[in-house]
Amino acid sequence: MLENKKIILGVCGGIAAYKAVELLRLLTKGGADVHVIMTRAAREFVTPLTFQTLSSNPVHTELFNLIEEGAIGHISLADRADLFIVAPATANVIGKIAAGIADDLLTTTVMATKAPVLFAPAMNVNMYSNPIYQENEDKLRRLGYLFEAPVCGSLACGWEGEGKLAAPETIFESAVAALTAKDLAGRTILITAGPTREELDPVRYISNHSSGKMGYALARAARRRGAQVLLISGPTSLPRPDGVKVVSVTSAVEMQREVMARVAECHVVIKAAAVADYRPLMRNSSKIKKQGDSATIELVKNPDILAGLGGMNGGSAPRPFLVGFAAETDSLAENAVKKLSEKNLDMIVANDVSQFDAGFNVDTNRALLVFKDGSSCDCGLMSKDQLAGTILDHVAARLAEH
Ligand code: CTP
Repeated sequence: MLENKKIILGVCGGIAAYKAVELLRLLTKGGADVHVIMTRAAREFVTPLTFQTLSSNPVHTELFNLIEEGAIGHISLADRADLFIVAPATANVIGKIAAGIADDLLTTTVMATKAPVLFAPAMNVNMYSNPIYQENEDKLRRLGYLFEAPVCGSLACGWEGEGKLAAPETIFESAVAALTAKDLAGRTILITAGPTREELDPVRYISNHSSGKMGYALARAARRRGAQVLLISGPTSLPRPDGVKVVSVTSAVEMQREVMARVAECHVVIKAAAVADYRPLMRNSSKIKKQGDSATIELVKNPDILAGLGGMNGGSAPRPFLVGFAAETDSLAENAVKKLSEKNLDMIVANDVSQFDAGFNVDTNRALLVFKDGSSCDCGLMSKDQLAGTILDHVAARLAEH
């Protein structure tokens, strides 16, 4: 996701400096080449060795370093960066940059860079709400600097309130978004994810092994690319993606109701959910007690949400671009083409869910993408995040054609 990206991570002096270590780990795991700059105060909280070990790069601390100055160290660092993150960013450093003061390596490099700069402030709640700080932040925002706002919580200083560094995962997400082209800006995309649960009684249900990972990866990726994203999710244990409107549902019938209520405002619908094809004819209001040696459950067919969308004639609004998924255990291509045509889709993502590294409940997938015009694209083994990117590359290209 961040392959070939050079990121400077500036760490200021604050108790949240230890969380910058976790952020560094996420950035390097995402493929970025990270160079850390620490202020003198930051080194009081965490040692450079920690950042050096995890980034596999020397940590920069001094403005005038004889070895680095051969290439004017701080300027060459600033020039090579694709993104600059300051986390945690203190009121002091933000104030200095807002005032144009460059008196150490971090402030000098921030001011010398042409790369986007993302600040993740962390400070005492009263410092954060101080109009002097707020004015500095407003000024930097107006000038195009990005901010990941602190969250509420109990602060190291003993106060309770806004000022806690945003979660490393949230800062990571903003960093990826800052580096992503906004080729889906102005588009509204509805994504369904996860399984549905069809209840038999208050304690039992019929469902499947879907974890929701593919749909959630698509929602995060679409959001980064500038789309407005509506995620209609069956029960999962995944964290809600930032900046995405999430509607939680349980059964196929509920999912259908929520999809149909929103489809008119969408340019694209991606149906990654593993919808149960059948539900029990009856839902018992109390627990079904055990009787006899065998039991039979009568099932009735659930509505096929995607086929319903494919059958829409559009009315006054044009029919959205429809992407279906096909979960198969055999005859992948054949079944994908059949579903694409029967459900009248623009594109289908077929995956062989019998493979150990594809389909349900794993972080990777192998998919065959088939398009309405008969063309196809075989994606080898990749992470679900990478596959989400590939799917959206095709969606964006086809939307741009129309
Ligand atoms: N789907 C749907 N509503 C259903 C069943 C499936 O919207 N009641 C959607 C899924 O979200 C997916 C696509 O249809 O995008 C294909 O789902 P899949 O389970 O692979 O196939 P089915 O159409 O259910 O057919 P089968 O189970 O026979 O393979």
